[in-house]
Amino acid sequence: TVLFRCSEFQRLESEVAALRKQLDDLAVVVTKNRDAHLFPNGRSVGGKLFKTDGSQGSFESSKATCSQAGGQLASPKNASENAAVQQIIARHNKAAYLGMNDIQSEGTFAYLCGGEIGYTNWADEEPNNAGGKEDCIEMYLDGKWNDRSCTERRLIVCEF
Ligand code: IPD
Ligand code: CA
Repeated sequence: TVLFRCSEFQRLESEVAALRKQLDDLAVVVTKNRDAHLFPNGRSVGGKLFKTDGSQGSFESSKATCSQAGGQLASPKNASENAAVQQIIARHNKAAYLGMNDIQSEGTFAYLCGGEIGYTNWADEEPNNAGGKEDCIEMYLDGKWNDRSCTERRLIVCEF
């Protein structure tokens, strides 16, 4: 067992208090930086950040752009995340590709990391695999999803 003298205990107590203050100050700085970086082209929801650089690309090039940036193509997994992506694309007035696709297995949409999708927000009559060649998903300006060919040009929105 380690025995602390009273003076040592008091020293540790004030050290912990100082560290706690430093953590609080750091949290303020981190939040401020996050908000600054998200203005005006990003959104924060839960622990996720969604952001566009304003450029456009095919599904493959959007996917590459996001992974090079250390993130991945936006893949909203619930209504709040979907709303965050929708706000970004509405602001830019351009539809965007999402990460999910059925390239591997027609009719079964999966996340980029694999695994069948849970949350969906399909537009009416979608997915219809029009022309037999719609393996990607675009988000319309209203937040609804349409399966679409992977080779159109769409706003690049990444998540981190
Ligand atoms: C099509 C329509 C359709 C949708 C397809 C699109 P287009 O657009 O919007 O509703 O399901 O994915 O390709 O080809 O008629 O301009
Ligand atoms: Ca479609």
